[in-house]
Formats: sequence, C-alpha cells, structure tokens
Amino acid sequence: MKERVKVVVTGAAGQISYSLIPRLVDGHTFGDKIVDLELVEIPQVVEKLEGLVMELEDSNFPNMGNVNYTSDFEKAAKDADWFLLVGSIPRGIVYNGKKIEERADLLQINGGIFVGQGKAIGEHGKPNAKILVVGNPANTNALIGRHAANNESQLWMAMTMLDSSRAQSVLSKKLNTGISDISKMIIWGNHSPTMYPDFENMDCNGQSGKDLIDDMDWINGEFLPTVQQRGKAVIDSRGASSATSAAKAALDTVVACENPTASGDCFSAAVMTDGSYGLPDGIICGMPLRTLADGSVEIVSGIELSDFAKEKILISTNELLEERAAVMELLQ
Ligand SMILES: NC(=O)c1ccc[n+]([C@@H]2O[C@H](COP(=O)([O-])OP(=O)(O)OC[C@H]3O[C@@H](n4cnc5c(N)ncnc54)[C@H](O)[C@@H]3O)[C@@H](O)[C@H]2O)c1
Repeated sequence: MKERVKVVVTGAAGQISYSLIPRLVDGHTFGDKIVDLELVEIPQVVEKLEGLVMELEDSNFPNMGNVNYTSDFEKAAKDADWFLLVGSIPRGIVYNGKKIEERADLLQINGGIFVGQGKAIGEHGKPNAKILVVGNPANTNALIGRHAANNESQLWMAMTMLDSSRAQSVLSKKLNTGISDISKMIIWGNHSPTMYPDFENMDCNGQSGKDLIDDMDWINGEFLPTVQQRGKAVIDSRGASSATSAAKAALDTVVACENPTASGDCFSAAVMTDGSYGLPDGIICGMPLRTLADGSVEIVSGIELSDFAKEKILISTNELLEERAAVMELLQ
C-alpha cells in the first residue's frame, strides 16, 4: 500500500492555488505518495471549487487521493500533514465596507484569520505537521498562527523561497551560469522589500558569491533592488501579483522539507528565531534551513555574516518587530 499525505490548501480558488494544486498531485512534489487534498475557501467563494475539483478529476493524476472542498477550516485540518496557507485578504479590497489600503489594517485583518486557523492546526493537525504561510504579510501571519497553535512539535514557516529563486535567477545571469549551479541562496529577514538576499554566502560550483562578485555598485544598484522589488515589478506589469512563480516556490519549499538537504547546502524559509545569528527573539525570520534524514528541519548554523549583511538584516528584523508590535493583542 502506498503512503498517504494529507494536504490542506487555503485560498484554493485564488490565482496561486490554480497553479499550485494540480502540481501537488502530479507525482513530483510528494513522489510516490497518494495525496489527499482539502481545499479551503471563504463561504462566499467556496462553491467555485467544484469546478476546480472537476478539472482535477478530469486530469487523471495517478497520485490524487480524496479531494474535498469546504469553508470549514477546522474540519479540513483534521490529521493533516501539510498546510499551505495561501488565503488572505489582499491590499485594495473592500472588506466589511472599508477599502483596505494601510499595512496596519492588512496586518489586523489577516492576523485575525490566522488566529482561528492556527488554533485549529494546533488542535487538529498532525503533531509533526508542517505549515507554510504564503498569504501576506506572511511572516507576521505565521507568527500569529504559530502562537495560536501553541504546539511546539509542528513547524511553522513563512515562504521566502520565491525571493530566493529570484535572487538565484539574477545571479545566474550575472555569472553567466546555469540556475542549478547556484545553491545556498539564503534570504534573511522579512518577505517584504527589506529582505536581504545573501549573495556573499551563495555557492556557485564550489565558489562563494563573496569571492566571485567584486562589484558593490552592481550589488547596491541592481541586485538588491531587483530582487527586493521584483514582486512590485510583476504587479506593475501584470496587474496582479506573482502567481505561477509563487506556486512553484511553495512546491519547492515542500520538496525541500520532504527530502534530506544535500551536505553543505541549505534552503530558505522564515521560521521562529532561536537566538542564532544575534536575531531578535520571537519573530518569524528568513534563515538558512536544512532537512535531516528523519524529516525534521533545523536552522543551519555557522554561516558567516559580513558587517554589510548584518546592517541589511537589521533593517528587515526591525520591520518584523514593528509588524509584531502592530498585532500584539493577537499574541497575548
Ligand atoms: N510569500 C510569497 O512569496 C508570496 C508571493 C506571491 C503572493 N503572495 C501572497 O499570497 C496570497 C494569495 O495570492 P493570490 O494571488 O493567490 O491571491 P488571490 O486573491 O487570487 O487569492 C486569494 C484567495 O484567498 C481566499 N481567502 C481569503 N481569506 C481566506 C480564508 N480565511 N480562508 C480561506 N481562503 C481565504 C480568497 O477568497 C481568494 O480566493 C496574497 O496574500 C499574496 O500577497 C505571497
């Protein structure tokens, strides 16, 4: 009998999910395992998921198990192994009669959603469940969800893999090399324009970025702004936020957690700080991670940070502290 994995996806009728969900059952992300899906949406939208389920059935994915759709998150959470929390209220939408423009309002509304979802995950998810928050503001949503879950054996992450992929892409062009030659691409801090893509510790065929790139004008004038502002550039061009690349990054994060990390390598996601690298306590911060043979995920130690890197990371962790202060009442 094949192993089964149960995956909950919120925001299942949204743009990212349309690219993400089929690839959860295509035999790549979870290998041979049979994937049971719980697709979650808000009540106003949930019926749309019937069409998506029809499409999934019509695609004849051999690894697809049971597929349900619901607006009852608590029910969906029962014994789930993975939670891909994509659903959130975007900036600019009218919510309860008010147009949501301010980051503070966005933090409050989405934060509120993550209290309920976090509690349900803590109570009903598997003890070793992994949770990837994609919906923005991802780090602070994850902080709120993790606090509400109050379950130390589960792993809460906020997605920074898309930032890491973007940085790899820009560096591979600069170094005129293939994308797969670039590894150890660490994103420090917040999933926001303050995040710091660590070009110095990146590895390209055994050489570090620090040794390969001796052009701080390019780093400051091109590399950092391109990676940090890429989300906005996509929105400006497409009129909608990154969807297919965000879906690919979520899948890459799952794959990175499901398989042991190669020796010397690491992958990027934001997790709870643990005192390493002098980062402030109590924030969900982008860091280098690795997956061990037993499936557990740990923070990689021993990465050297230059003064330049420390300065940039401080800007991002200060932003995370400000976000935390704005939602403090959700963390009591
Ligand atoms: N971390 C990243 O790298 C990254 C990258 C791109 C986008 N994002 C974020 O991902 C989120 C989703 O993006 P999208 O383009 O798919 O948006 P979208 O608006 O197309 O879809 C979001 C969906 O979430 C649903 N939703 C809202 N609240 C929900 C709740 N409480 N439970 C279940 N579903 C709920 C909405 O009904 C909607 O269908 C946004 O917050 C976006 O900013 C993050």
